[in-house]
Amino acid sequence: MTGQDPQRIGVLLSGRGSNLAALLSASRDGRVSAPMAMVVSNIADAPGLDHARQADIPFQVVDHRRSSTREEHDRKVAEVLEAAGITLVCLAGYMRLLSPWFVQRFPQRILNIHPSLLPAFPGLHAQRQALRHGVKITGCTVHLVDEHLDAGPIILQKAVPVQEHDDERTLSARILEQEHILYPEALSLFCQNRVEVKNQRIHLRSKQEK
Ligand code: GRF
Repeated sequence: MTGQDPQRIGVLLSGRGSNLAALLSASRDGRVSAPMAMVVSNIADAPGLDHARQADIPFQVVDHRRSSTREEHDRKVAEVLEAAGITLVCLAGYMRLLSPWFVQRFPQRILNIHPSLLPAFPGLHAQRQALRHGVKITGCTVHLVDEHLDAGPIILQKAVPVQEHDDERTLSARILEQEHILYPEALSLFCQNRVEVKNQRIHLRSKQEK
């Protein structure tokens, strides 16, 4: 079972932060009931930090280059999150693999968004991979994070048709629009205690079941 306690959300990012902006807006207008209480970036000048500044959300930079192992870095990140009372971690363009230690520290409490219909096209450049394979439909996925790259039980997915003249830029932009809808939806379900893991798969509880 997941999500039964009131959550405090922490967001990890490395770049632009448009998904952070979408989550902040959902938290502001009440679509997501839990507060965004900390943003952590591994990149000091990540543009995404501006969204935290504008929304007056505490943020910290934890530079991965100051740690010699993945786990050492992740322990520093966890320390920052735990000091802020974070119970639920959202990855939003966080360009680092998580150590098993970190994943176990927040069991079934880490969400990620990926710009493909997983398990198709994990890893970098998912939209480019989709175009190369000539798929007619791709999309985006919000999932719980396990020890493997872009893996873990799938919470929600949204399909995006590939158009004849799409290039990586146009396809990415149309998927991103859907990401900004899907991530708040999935987070909202989680915060309402409607996300349940059964045999490595997600069961979405109805409102009556929760
Ligand atoms: C998004 O496409 C997300 O799916 C992927 O990284 C990108 C981050 O974009 N994991 P942004 O930083 O949220 O704008």
